Amino acid sequence: MTTASTQTSTSLSADPLNLIDVDHVRFYVGNAKQAAYFYAHTFGFRIDQIADLTTGSRDEADYLLTQGNIRILLTTPLNKDHEAAEEIKLYGDGIKDVSLTVEDATAAYNRAIENGAKSAKPPRTIEDEKGSVTVASIHTYGRVIHTFISRTGEYAHENLRNGGLFMPTFKKYDSPLNEYNEKHPCGLMFTDHLVGNVEEGKMNEWVKWYEDVLEFKMFKHFDDADISTEFSALMSKVMASGNNLIKMPINEPADGVKKSQILEYLEWHNMMPGVQHLAFRTDDELATVAELRRRGVDFLDMPETYYEKVWDRVNTMLTEHGHDVVKEDHQRVKDLGVLVDADDEGYLLQLFTKPLQDRPTFFIEIICRRGSQSFGKGNFKALFESLELEQERRGNL
Ligand code: FE2
Repeated sequence: MTTASTQTSTSLSADPLNLIDVDHVRFYVGNAKQAAYFYAHTFGFRIDQIADLTTGSRDEADYLLTQGNIRILLTTPLNKDHEAAEEIKLYGDGIKDVSLTVEDATAAYNRAIENGAKSAKPPRTIEDEKGSVTVASIHTYGRVIHTFISRTGEYAHENLRNGGLFMPTFKKYDSPLNEYNEKHPCGLMFTDHLVGNVEEGKMNEWVKWYEDVLEFKMFKHFDDADISTEFSALMSKVMASGNNLIKMPINEPADGVKKSQILEYLEWHNMMPGVQHLAFRTDDELATVAELRRRGVDFLDMPETYYEKVWDRVNTMLTEHGHDVVKEDHQRVKDLGVLVDADDEGYLLQLFTKPLQDRPTFFIEIICRRGSQSFGKGNFKALFESLELEQERRGNL
């Protein structure tokens, strides 16, 4: 028995695609210095480290933003020949890389290539006297890549999580905003899930890609009957890593009378698939949303009628499955415009920002789970009505 369980844990840790964490999410942005200030001010991120001309980085500037176990890397090109310059021209600011911590980046990359992945960048190691960082990247949907990353010495993942240096050429950054954010926390803990928008008719291809290449499994499935409104629709399937650490819903546009929000995203993203939203987990939805609203985060407005129906729907579901009803103050939930949904396992609170750049592309979700492991299916109809109102204001419906 002991031998068997030892073997199991050995074979698990020997699995080259055993994902330890989301190492970081890299955005390509037009001006990282200003974007860093925006994300630090509105969402409470710490501007923790930079790599730029002053640290010997000649072709790009990088800002590492941290909060809880979330790491965002903002990259801006310093010359016209940098790959990011062309991508920013085509797509505006957005996510390029969802980087995954593994034990051995070269082994993970080789396994993914054997599984059918297309290489973006072969393995390379960046090192100095403090330690090493090995990175290797594969293409996934559209313009997005996954970089496998493994770390040693002072750059080891545990050290990074505790404020250690990101990699050689990075240095710690001082900002009065960091002190302010420590005194006024926003409560974001980690990335709960991240969602990709792919081409119409291609969702199942990308589902199979995650099964074959990264050895993910399907987690939940919604069909368009669940999540269509009168006007527009989407299809969505949720893929999860073998250890359920990383959840990646994949959306494709579905036919509706008016233009789907997925199609709107694609049209403003040069018809190129990409990351639609990142969902950050909090333990206290109301405190987080109150603080973010105070800082000026622009959230989607829900129709007035939403709160007339929601408590019956959610609390009935919870009671039927033997759970306590929603414990958060119902009036405060309404005042903060927070959404609630329930399933047989419990409930969740969530809220979505409006797009975070002028193009209607990437946005952020704030989610708090009280037992529920789903994604707010019951809110999709109310949400889509709100999204369509926004699309109409933008003349995109
Ligand atoms: Fe989401």
